[in-house]
Amino acid sequence: MLQSVSATETALPPSDLRASASPKAPAPAPGVQTPQSGPARPTSARATTPAQKPLPEPTWRSADNRARLYKGDCLEILERIPAESVDVIFADPPYFLSNGGTTCRAGKRTSVDKGAWDKSNGVEENHAFNHKWLSACQRALKPNGTMWVSGTGHVIYSVGYAMQQLGFKMLNEIVWEKPNPPPNLSCRYFTHATETLLWAAKSRKSRHTFNYDRMREMNDGKQMKTVWRLTAPGQKEKLLGRHPTQKPIALLERLLLASCPDNSLVLDPFNGSGTTGVAAVTLGHSYMGIDLEQEYIDLTQARLLDAVPSLRERPALQVVR
Ligand SMILES: C[S@@+](CC[C@H](N)C(=O)[O-])C[C@H]1O[C@@H](n2cnc3c(N)ncnc32)[C@H](O)[C@@H]1O
Repeated sequence: MLQSVSATETALPPSDLRASASPKAPAPAPGVQTPQSGPARPTSARATTPAQKPLPEPTWRSADNRARLYKGDCLEILERIPAESVDVIFADPPYFLSNGGTTCRAGKRTSVDKGAWDKSNGVEENHAFNHKWLSACQRALKPNGTMWVSGTGHVIYSVGYAMQQLGFKMLNEIVWEKPNPPPNLSCRYFTHATETLLWAAKSRKSRHTFNYDRMREMNDGKQMKTVWRLTAPGQKEKLLGRHPTQKPIALLERLLLASCPDNSLVLDPFNGSGTTGVAAVTLGHSYMGIDLEQEYIDLTQARLLDAVPSLRERPALQVVR
């Protein structure tokens, strides 16, 4: 059964949505509201750009047009998506952790660097970037649409703060627990074994979809909790190519099963290897993915066609009399 939850249910009280002033807070970035200016005010839920450019041709589209991939900067492409047109967004943004550190892969110390796109530009610039793409996503969401953002402590506090500044309605905070994390080689910290997923609706007025019964069924008849224990993607999910921060399909399937109305349009502004697209089209939804790198657009195309071969086929023409 699909359930729409009322605007007040499960929502934090308005006071909890206000950012508290802190003497250590970074100086405001352009376009970012400061705590000093009072309670967070929704800035752009209905804003439209004066002369919105149409969407460019996708870099790749499936024959039935159900999946579309765009190579480019999500800040530029998001503003060309028609306002209030997307049902669910999943975003796995840069975590800003590629700054010369090391991690352990297959028992060996290796560089943590993922690519130029993951380099930190400092706390303030990182936050200004998060505020910008979140605002653009909010504009693209339908009034009852919801959005998921994954992250670790490197980025998730900025994302959560920007969401509050923008007037999103915070719904849940999911802890994704990885049962087999790489060991911590320095032995000076606990082993990092979790990521956070924030789930939020477009605004406080949203009546969001939560497929409660489906989640309970998937959890042996008990209410699904906010801790999800799922393994990182194995070799089976990397047969067509590798991406340094690939998410497991099971994670994306679960969150889309929880939050998508039937026949949704799902968007991922940081497409990567296209895990969101694979899960979305497998579940019968349409998909739009954006990424800076052609290499990842190509990998996504291969994964989509492998997962859903019918994407190669044009829909049959109907004779209209
Ligand atoms: C954390 S990865 C996403 C991984 C993805 N969830 C997966 O399962 O493969 C982020 C991706 O966003 C892309 N990216 C970074 N900055 C971008 C931007 N401004 N616009 C579009 N894509 C961007 C990177 O190329 C990278 O592939």
